[in-house]
Amino acid sequence: MYPLRRNRRLRTNEAIRSLVRETIITPNDFLVPLFVVEGKGIKEEIASMPNYFRYSLDLLENEVKDLWKLGLKSVLLFVKVPDNLKDNKGKEALNKNGLMQRAIKTVKNVCPDMLVMTDVALDPYSMYGHDGIIENGVIVNDDTAEFLAEMSISHAKAGANFVAPSDMMDGRILTIREALEEEGYPDTGIMSYSAKYASAFYGPFRDALDSAPVDLKDIPKDKKTYQMDVANRHEALRETEMDIDEGADIVMVKPGMAYLDILRDIKNEFDVPVAVYQVSGEYAMIKAAAEKGWLNHDQIMMETTTAFKRAGADVIASYFAKDIVKLINR
Ligand code: PBG
Repeated sequence: MYPLRRNRRLRTNEAIRSLVRETIITPNDFLVPLFVVEGKGIKEEIASMPNYFRYSLDLLENEVKDLWKLGLKSVLLFVKVPDNLKDNKGKEALNKNGLMQRAIKTVKNVCPDMLVMTDVALDPYSMYGHDGIIENGVIVNDDTAEFLAEMSISHAKAGANFVAPSDMMDGRILTIREALEEEGYPDTGIMSYSAKYASAFYGPFRDALDSAPVDLKDIPKDKKTYQMDVANRHEALRETEMDIDEGADIVMVKPGMAYLDILRDIKNEFDVPVAVYQVSGEYAMIKAAAEKGWLNHDQIMMETTTAFKRAGADVIASYFAKDIVKLINR
């Protein structure tokens, strides 16, 4: 006799499949990364990120309105800083009329209810392309953390709802949390890049912001002294636990596709919202394969995104957010 349970009954047609589907993607899942540049009328495509753009502030306005209309209510801002404003200490990051500060105000101005998160790290401001201050060839921890706290205050003053430290210095969440409290920003949240790996998947992002570590004598050529070793799993739990203890509201795993085990571990272990970042290299791979006709773009986009949510992501930072929402709203 056949088994009483035939699992295929629940897969017979789309109606029954959608009825019992466990993971549903909605616009509420997404955090939309946005790249901002100086200038006017600029919408330039990033070479290694097809159909993804850097916007000047005037065109950022339209983009933000578009996102809002689609039901996308959270953005994550990154700025491309002109070379002449870069130094070792990231001084420009504290400029209250700097590009990031103006970008925050621009978004809030056109769309007051849009949740604005900002990237907090030195790399776009660093002449060396590192996330921290360099002394004698070493990325120094504590001075960098102090600086990131000042940067966070500057973003909070400009109107950011959340700061998102992406640097992986030790103790920076506590330093930032204390500074926000002391300076009168108790409601400004922190989304910590808690388990951020020293990954090769960030290449296209560094093209987008021109922020790759420089190739100079006595300057570290990679970020392995602060970002995590890709081989480590337990360490991700330690990092995340510390960030939560230090006051992180949301924690993050990054990159996404190759780190679903870490995402699930963290989701199971902790009770704060967990974000995942499907990073630039993941986006680029999918675009490239689709351009060649080797993979179906939309299906891969939906499959990978569904996998993040299934693996435990409460928040998905994705360059596909707009495309996905257009597809599911159709
Ligand atoms: C900067 C930062 C990076 C990313 C987000 N914030 C690059 C890096 O750490 O080198 C990567 C995002 C992506 O690849 O999409 N600290």
